[in-house]
Amino acid sequence: MTISESTVVIITGASSGIGRALALYLAERGARLGLIARRAEKLNEVAWEAMKRGAADVLALPCDITDREAFQRIIGEVQVAFGRIDILVNNAGFGHIGYVEDTPQEHLESVFHVNVFALWHGAAAVLPLMKEQGSGQIITISSMAGVIPFPANAAYVAAKHAAVGFTRALRSELAGTGVEAMVVLPAGTMTEWASATEGGPILPLFEYENERSVEIAEELSIEKAVMPSLLSPEDVAEQIVDLIEHPAPVLYTHPNSEELAQRFAEDQVGTEYQLLPSWLANREGYLRMRKELRVKS
Ligand SMILES: NC(=O)c1ccc[n+]([C@@H]2O[C@H](COP(=O)([O-])OP(=O)(O)OC[C@H]3O[C@@H](n4cnc5c(N)ncnc54)[C@H](OP(=O)(O)O)[C@@H]3O)[C@@H](O)[C@H]2O)c1
Repeated sequence: MTISESTVVIITGASSGIGRALALYLAERGARLGLIARRAEKLNEVAWEAMKRGAADVLALPCDITDREAFQRIIGEVQVAFGRIDILVNNAGFGHIGYVEDTPQEHLESVFHVNVFALWHGAAAVLPLMKEQGSGQIITISSMAGVIPFPANAAYVAAKHAAVGFTRALRSELAGTGVEAMVVLPAGTMTEWASATEGGPILPLFEYENERSVEIAEELSIEKAVMPSLLSPEDVAEQIVDLIEHPAPVLYTHPNSEELAQRFAEDQVGTEYQLLPSWLANREGYLRMRKELRVKS
């Protein structure tokens, strides 16, 4: 799809990170933007910046997307204001920390409300119009956690796998309509995500895992899997702009990520062995973290 001043894009989770960076890149192409997130102040700041960078029009629409009625009403407002909707970017999301047996029911539900149910509600709201237009794109930001597992985050991993399944099913329903469903699979990206995880910030656990897994790999003489390196939200957003212009079912954004996912799909047991040092280090770090929290409380 060519991005121009007549292109209308709705982005959820536009107040920070990947959503913010994407909004600003699309603004530079002159698009009309409907920006959604809960923090009104941050959203307004992004909207001002987007106007400065050349957006044809911007609506800052504070909303908690777990409120289905409010979310769908706001999508309706964008449709009325701009007359069309070309792209919905289902980007809002967050993780949590917790092994399965430690995950409270309310964390499981809140992770699924944002990372899964809202995808459905957003898509359901834009699809009638997009089908009538005979064109449109629904882009869902899943994660590498949508195709390979990592420990201490099972609710998120399950939710991001669901996001991949949702996109695949939606693609099959959209065959021949002119509307595309696409999924993006980022790996580690330097955003607020790592500090916004439910149950506490996940970064110290990742850092412990990275360092300790090197020692464990040496002790066990295992050649560790090569993990994707960190990228900036701008790096990821730039690739999403390219995806809009050159649609494809899946976008792997990080170097080494597609290879890792393919290896896991083709030889799960072999790849699990290569990931073992990371997983053992994760469990060690997680147990330490839990002990420290118990001591503090
Ligand atoms: N960063 C990574 O390493 C990484 C890796 C793979 C995938 N991802 C995925 O990439 C997407 C973007 O995350 P990010 O890294 O850019 O993190 P981020 O900076 O924390 O951004 C998350 C966005 O989601 C919004 N959000 C969260 N809950 C919401 C709710 N209930 N209603 C409305 N908006 C909500 C937040 O805005 P408010 O707080 O203002 O509502 C924020 O704008 C997420 O789906 C994430 O899971 C991230």
